[in-house]
Parts: sequence; C-alpha cells; structure tokens
Amino acid sequence: MEIERILLTQEELQARVKELGAVLSAEYAEKTPVFVGVLRGAVHFFTDLMLHFPHPCQYDFIGAASYGDGTQSSGQVMLTKDVMTDLQGRHVVVVEDILDTGLTLRFVTDWLKGKNPASLKLCVLLDKPARRRADISADYIGFTIPNEFVVGYGLDYQELYRNLPYIGILKP
Ligand code: PRP
Repeated sequence: MEIERILLTQEELQARVKELGAVLSAEYAEKTPVFVGVLRGAVHFFTDLMLHFPHPCQYDFIGAASYGDGTQSSGQVMLTKDVMTDLQGRHVVVVEDILDTGLTLRFVTDWLKGKNPASLKLCVLLDKPARRRADISADYIGFTIPNEFVVGYGLDYQELYRNLPYIGILKP
C-alpha cells in the first residue's frame, strides 16, 4: 500500500496541537487533570499535546481493542489495559487519535465514568463523523475529516505507518 496524498502536514498537525494545548491550559490550569491516552493510536498526539500543557497534571493510559472480521468492527470492544490512577473525584480528559465509528470511545468513556470522576471530557485529534455508529461526540476536536482511510501520526494500517510525521490517505 502506498500513500495517495497527504491530508494533514506535520506543520498543520503541530500548529493545531499547540492550539488545543492552549485551550486545555485555559480550562484545566487549576484542576490538576488526569490525561488518559488511549493506546496505541494516540501515542504521538498525547505526547505532543502534553508538551503544550504547562500546568500540574497526571498521565495515565487505557487500552481497548475491538474484534471483527478484520475489515469491519463487530462492535464488541474489550479492555486490554485499565488505568492505574484512582479517578474518583478527578478531572479526566481522554486523549484519542480518532473518533470513527465511536464504538471504542463509547466503551472507554462508559468504563471511566464508572470510576466516578468529577468530570470527564474527550479530546480527539481527528473526528470522522460520516462513520459514526455510537452516540458520542468529542469536547475538543483537532480536525474534522472526510470518510477516507487515514494513517500516520499514530494511526495504522495493519500495524504499519504509525511513525509517519503527517496524516496521509492510503491508496485504495
Ligand atoms: C483505532 C483508533 C481508535 C479507534 C477508533 O484503534 O486508535 O482507538 O480505532 O475507531 P472507532 O471509533 O471506530 O472505534 P485500533 O482499535 O485500531 O487500535 P490501536 O489504537 O492500537 O491502533
């Protein structure tokens, strides 16, 4: 598979991540939030975003996997790693690379709400509303994108392409 074209350049990504960091900084400066990254796709977005949050905060990570026939999600999401932080009464921001069908984040946010945080918000780099199957929306969105298969900056196709510094569209 080859990259057909670049959807978001490294410069565009970095500029928007910086803006999102500023928005989160304004809202969470005094709240010592817990930022929860969703493994594995959020890895680059999470680390870059956190470098633009210059206030006290904590990091944690959660893992979720959905099982299907390989091309289509079954809609069944399973936890592969839980957070280690006690989230009771804490301000939680879930950081994720993409909100696609929404099944992953529906499951993850329901799971985390069960831990009784004081607040729980969702920050996604990419929102692809055309494919939504679950009733969920993000509080902070980097880019709303068309219904194309995107890779790079953490996003994979068959586990490859995560290390591209930009978001590209794969050749069909
Ligand atoms: C991808 C992505 C999101 C999820 C979004 O993860 O990182 O977590 O799919 O899709 P959805 O909105 O349709 O649920 P994936 O399951 O491929 O795992 P990964 O993060 O390890 O790549």
